[in-house]
Amino acid sequence: MTHINAALVESFGEPPRYRSIPAPQADARREVAEVLAVGIHPVTRGVASGRHYASSGALPVVPGIDGVVRRADGSLAYVGGLGGGGTMAERILIDPRSAIPVPSGADPATVAASMNPAMSSWVALRGRVPFRAGQSVLVIGATGAAGSIAVKTARHLGAGRVVAAGRNRQRLEQLAADGADAIVELSPDDDATAAAFAAAAAEVDVVLDYVWGAPTELAMRAILGARTDHARLLDWVHIGSTAGPTITLDGSGLRSNALRISGSGFGSIDLRQAGLPELVAAVASGALTVRPRPVPLETIEQAWGHEDAPGERTVVIPTSA
Ligand SMILES: NC(=O)c1ccc[n+]([C@@H]2O[C@H](COP(=O)([O-])OP(=O)(O)OC[C@H]3O[C@@H](n4cnc5c(N)ncnc54)[C@H](OP(=O)(O)O)[C@@H]3O)[C@@H](O)[C@H]2O)c1
Repeated sequence: MTHINAALVESFGEPPRYRSIPAPQADARREVAEVLAVGIHPVTRGVASGRHYASSGALPVVPGIDGVVRRADGSLAYVGGLGGGGTMAERILIDPRSAIPVPSGADPATVAASMNPAMSSWVALRGRVPFRAGQSVLVIGATGAAGSIAVKTARHLGAGRVVAAGRNRQRLEQLAADGADAIVELSPDDDATAAAFAAAAAEVDVVLDYVWGAPTELAMRAILGARTDHARLLDWVHIGSTAGPTITLDGSGLRSNALRISGSGFGSIDLRQAGLPELVAAVASGALTVRPRPVPLETIEQAWGHEDAPGERTVVIPTSA
């Protein structure tokens, strides 16, 4: 039996190890592809920890929820989503029907770094809410990888006004320089933060929310309280929980305003309907990207513990291109 190198989670709560595993064998439905780049996204860590709702709980497991591969015919493709095997290995099995072509000149590490964070806002605006060009969008958690691309995605899809909210003042100023119309700083002063939300975001149409928890409770109260046209639909899309898994919502918020809360993530979306080939093209062109930090597969244990700088995403390179 031939073997390949892979990352392997052998115990929840510990980083994956660099291991040798049996090589995958093609079957009637799937082909073997060479893996070029795999991002370590928050969801990658979540699934590998066994705590994410999409984790099977089985061990050992190869981590990695997506990546860029080279197919047998030499073409590049993005493969992703949960449910298949993990991607952090030199070779994996892919279903050709769900592989999305990547232009041959694209940088695999940039595509692998960017697709997961970019997909979060793309899918939300394309598939979860009836977003129309000209509408206004508030991104809460705009200083992270996904949030900062969300600011660009909203603009790319035609938003008339984009407001960026987050904790990191320097990153917010950068987002303003890159095209955000207004910024809201999530500061320790709750009154100041609420006033900033009321001033900058009272009339938004869509909120893309990466934080949830206490900052969302504060933002929701401030915006609902300041809204002038209460019957105008406010679509609040929960995407991430970096500040907490739950919120408490006074029912009056739902009666006094046309507030509609939904979620966007694996499970609530049909990725086949999400226009992902168009997103791959936008990412490959450099329009919606974060900066990749490439690391070799054999350093997976150290890479797993690395905290990415703002705007950066660690990408594991199993096979050099
Ligand atoms: N549902 C989906 O389709 C989907 C797809 C991709 C990502 N996500 C989720 O979206 C979230 C962000 O992902 P990412 O890739 O952008 O991660 P990231 O690059 O690590 O960014 C994390 C963001 O969360 C903020 N944050 C962390 N703790 C916070 C707190 N207590 N209060 C306020 N803000 C806080 C950070 O702010 P600072 O800059 O101030 O630290 C930063 O903006 C994660 O939960 C991820 O799982 C969901």
